[in-house]
Amino acid sequence: MAERNQFYITTPIYYPSDNLHIGHAYTTVAADCIARFKRMQGFEVFYLTGTDEHGQKIEKVAREKGKEPQLYVDEIVAGIKSLWDTMLITHNDFIRTTDKRHEAVVQKVFQRVYQQGDIFLSQYEGWYCTPCETFFTERQLVEGNCPDCGRPVELLQEESYFFNMGKYAPRLLEHIEAHPEFIQPESRRNEIVNFIKSGLEDLCVSRTTFSWGVPVPFNNKHVVYVWFDALINYLSGIGYLQDEEQFQRFWPADVHLMAKDIIRFHAIIWPIMLMALDLPLPRTVFAHGWIMLEGGKMSKSKGNVVDPRVLVNKYGVDAVRYYLVKELSFGQDGMYSEEMLVTRINSDLANDLGNLISRTVAMVNRYFESVVPGAIQAEPIDQELCQSAQTAYQEATAKLDKLDFSGYILAVMKLVARANKYIDETEPWRLAKDAGSLGRLGTVLYNLVESIRIAVILLAPTMPTLPTRVHEQLPLFSNLEKMKWSMAGQWGLTPAGIRVAKGPALFPRIDLKTLQEEPTAADQAAAEKAEAAPMEPTSKDKDLISIEDFARLDLRVAEVVECHKMEKADKLLVLKLQVGEKQHTVVSGIAKAYQPEALIGKKVVLLANLAPTKLRGTLSEGMILAASAEGDSNLEVLMINKDLPSGSRVK
Ligand code: ME8
Repeated sequence: MAERNQFYITTPIYYPSDNLHIGHAYTTVAADCIARFKRMQGFEVFYLTGTDEHGQKIEKVAREKGKEPQLYVDEIVAGIKSLWDTMLITHNDFIRTTDKRHEAVVQKVFQRVYQQGDIFLSQYEGWYCTPCETFFTERQLVEGNCPDCGRPVELLQEESYFFNMGKYAPRLLEHIEAHPEFIQPESRRNEIVNFIKSGLEDLCVSRTTFSWGVPVPFNNKHVVYVWFDALINYLSGIGYLQDEEQFQRFWPADVHLMAKDIIRFHAIIWPIMLMALDLPLPRTVFAHGWIMLEGGKMSKSKGNVVDPRVLVNKYGVDAVRYYLVKELSFGQDGMYSEEMLVTRINSDLANDLGNLISRTVAMVNRYFESVVPGAIQAEPIDQELCQSAQTAYQEATAKLDKLDFSGYILAVMKLVARANKYIDETEPWRLAKDAGSLGRLGTVLYNLVESIRIAVILLAPTMPTLPTRVHEQLPLFSNLEKMKWSMAGQWGLTPAGIRVAKGPALFPRIDLKTLQEEPTAADQAAAEKAEAAPMEPTSKDKDLISIEDFARLDLRVAEVVECHKMEKADKLLVLKLQVGEKQHTVVSGIAKAYQPEALIGKKVVLLANLAPTKLRGTLSEGMILAASAEGDSNLEVLMINKDLPSGSRVK
């Protein structure tokens, strides 16, 4: 059978009970990254997102705010749509469960499953958690509360329709067994299999105690259970029972993406509903981890949410998307703090990617009057760079196909690091001094431009404005619209002769200090006390310092992660140091005593709170300690040989 050229990916449809936060942006950006990647590969992509608007919870929140549920959700949904515009999400449709096109499908599905006998009327008594919109049996409760969110549950007794899920359990188990890619990651698959094996109870699929839902078509005392209603969006959103041609083209879904909180609904209830409808099952149901704050999972009910809009305004959409995608490691929880976001921007985007581009553009500008030269003299080191680009392409493709987001970013950033190292190794500034090396210099710069072109294509699904912004300085793409993923798999596509234009830094460094919190009252009091009682040193003590003076020096263990010679300065090295979570760039006069490579991976001692100063145009943020006897060539940098983590205090 020919591979199909369609690709259908979905996010959960979110509850518009309140504005969304970066947890929701996490899934939506990740799905967008895959959608863009597949489009660049030439697939016809359908990317669906939307909102889950019915149910008791929404009704309750709306009433509390004194609004009709429809009016309430309309306002929130307008905000969600504009958020996705701000984050450059390229969904093909936005489905709302209050859309008539959706409600009609829900009623038809309910009717059909009822008529074939899989749904039946009975009495229900059970414990209901309204925030989770889920029923639990007595056995499932934890200390009498909801086993998922820990909040109180209420005992409900009502006439309800039930869905006989048990009937389909053996078929579902067989399917999971035969299709290892169906539930991912594997740990989730085991959890689901165990759950099914422990026995599936009939699912209550209608409610009579409130009315904010889709009426059961043949008994309008009942509204359809909100999860039964919501899951159907994946069908109604692509035209099931309405636009059959489109539906046939895109169903089954390739990926339903979500976080682990709702995998059971998607890996048990949903496939059983599809079996009852005689429809093929989605290829993959993928549950990523949660994005956590220091105090635990971010959630609307905990009130510890981070608004993605604020971050995008401050740091730009590319940077925020980059952070989220990189933080999404395969199935694991991710962490969020603004400081970590800024550190990532400074290290990966400003230092690594931004610097590579600005250095390359500056050198083409300076040495070749702004015109990218051709490559004429290949050397083994060039082959190696070209090989790194090929590896980055292959790995990035494989990782994205596996939804291994952080693995994909890592694969691309390895190429960026390799290209930066290539600059240090080939030393273009030295080649430029020798008229006989001009051909070699041209080759080096061309290879750098090629590496940039490939990295930019590979990063485009994550950072959608990057290609345009790079293009303004380095017109790499004759037609940005036609940029294809496969172009990153070919070396040498940039034509020689394109003209570069120096522009502003693509990712300006952000001063971490601007984020530092206001001093606490205790800090303030201590500072005032210190000021109020200065201990004037006696003349005898003039050259001595107090222990407090010493304590003001913030000496830290720092790991050298990068190091290169400073252009046109034979004594200076530029070091990038990892100090705990932070990175410092330091310019140090030790080039006569150390080769840059010899320092990489070493742990040195950094005076981290030295006021930053510009040295030959580079901001130096601190000083590393070194001992010297006679002149700089006989100099030794203080190193820590024990396996102390970077950031450890030296005192
Ligand atoms: O569950 N970390 O809607 P919801 C990572 N309406 N992802 C997070 C997150 C976090 N801290 N917080 C939210 C619902 N998410 C139902 C879905 S689908 C037929 C119905 C993301 O608004 C993640 O994708 O509670 C999670 O699964 C989803 O938002 C839950 O969104």
